[in-house]
Amino acid sequence: MAKHPLIDLIKNKSIFTSLADQYGTPIYIYSKNRLIHNIKRLDNVLCNNFDTYHICYTIKANSNPHLIKILKKAIPSIGADCASPGEIYVAKKSGIKGNQCIYTGNYESPDDLKYALDNGVHINLDDITSFNRMKKIGLPKDIAFRLNPGFGKGAFSQIVTGGENSKFGVPHYDIVKAYRLAKESGISKFGIQCMTGSGVLDPDYYPKLIKEILKTVGMLKKELDIHMDYISLGGGYGIPYHDDETPLDFNKVFQNVAKNYHAYFDKRNEQKPALWIEPGKSVVGDTGILLTRVTGEKDSYKSYIGVDAGMETLMRPALYGAYHRIYKVGDPYAPTNHKVDITGRICENTDRIATDREFPDVTEGDLLAVMDTGAYSYSMSHQFCTRPRAAEVLLNGEDSTLIRKRETIEDIFSGCDI
Ligand SMILES: Cc1ncc(COP(=O)(O)O)c(C=O)c1O
Repeated sequence: MAKHPLIDLIKNKSIFTSLADQYGTPIYIYSKNRLIHNIKRLDNVLCNNFDTYHICYTIKANSNPHLIKILKKAIPSIGADCASPGEIYVAKKSGIKGNQCIYTGNYESPDDLKYALDNGVHINLDDITSFNRMKKIGLPKDIAFRLNPGFGKGAFSQIVTGGENSKFGVPHYDIVKAYRLAKESGISKFGIQCMTGSGVLDPDYYPKLIKEILKTVGMLKKELDIHMDYISLGGGYGIPYHDDETPLDFNKVFQNVAKNYHAYFDKRNEQKPALWIEPGKSVVGDTGILLTRVTGEKDSYKSYIGVDAGMETLMRPALYGAYHRIYKVGDPYAPTNHKVDITGRICENTDRIATDREFPDVTEGDLLAVMDTGAYSYSMSHQFCTRPRAAEVLLNGEDSTLIRKRETIEDIFSGCDI
């Protein structure tokens, strides 16, 4: 059983009580130490296995510029994986240069493509038709296409992004056509990218995926004499959301990826492209704690604990049925004695933070810590029911810094000119 890396922090009731008093609830709290630990761990493992590599932190996981700046300070060469002009904007504002970023759009508008081109990022296109749109705007120095290899893997069906049911990427049978078009249009530098799903805890998956990408790389070399400058394996490296899940062994994953990678290029005596990765969840996921206060309890056909964070604050449970460990602050191992749904204040019956959860007794006003809410949590939050978004706080030891103010009701209507 792997206990949560921040479990000892949860035992410290006074920290959370004073954060709640100072900043209100709900708040997202991020551990600076854990963030630095996570990014250095990935950097070390790549450094040990590849001569040239590049980490593009996935901005959509958490776009708070203060967190991105911490990553940049820890790993000065870090890049960003961006999915929109807004993500390119915040990456650059946080100090990451355009040419260290990859932009992977899908169904990109001409404006999206122009923004990416003007900002000098590496462009990774989702489709052949994207290239035709791109051509009308201008051609970048290098281009990549996102390969959909025909399979994928993810923690939930909704986050599998490869395979026949995925809207993403160029199918393997069209990939030569895509690169041929780019080459014939005058592009001479290339990358290839493949991202087939998120939340993968199987260490054998990535070595298998790289083999598949390399098959395509070989085909492109043979058919079009194209050499890749970089190969991006994408992101998707999972984190445990349950105590009984085994964390990914990054050493094992990248040793085996490297074995296949080096064997392929050594055998052909070809120059090795740089290996890129685009991690999001594995960098920020377990750094975040959503602190929420119990607002009410109700015994109906089921028992409910109402809290001040709902699906507008944390979408993942309502969106995918995602599970987050939830602890009573100060007493994470309090004995559980009843089954509850933990819900927010939103007028939707999908508004759940937890369903049928064995939970200890609580009383109104108690603080609860929702774990592993560093990734796809604040960044997916919204204002449904006209609820302002939560604040974000950085925790460094016992010192806290507000890194994003709580939204106000007035902020929500700031564009309405009332
Ligand atoms: C293109 C791309 N790369 C990387 C990622 C990061 O995935 P993860 O946070 O699971 O590492 C995503 C996430 O959706 C993505 O869309």
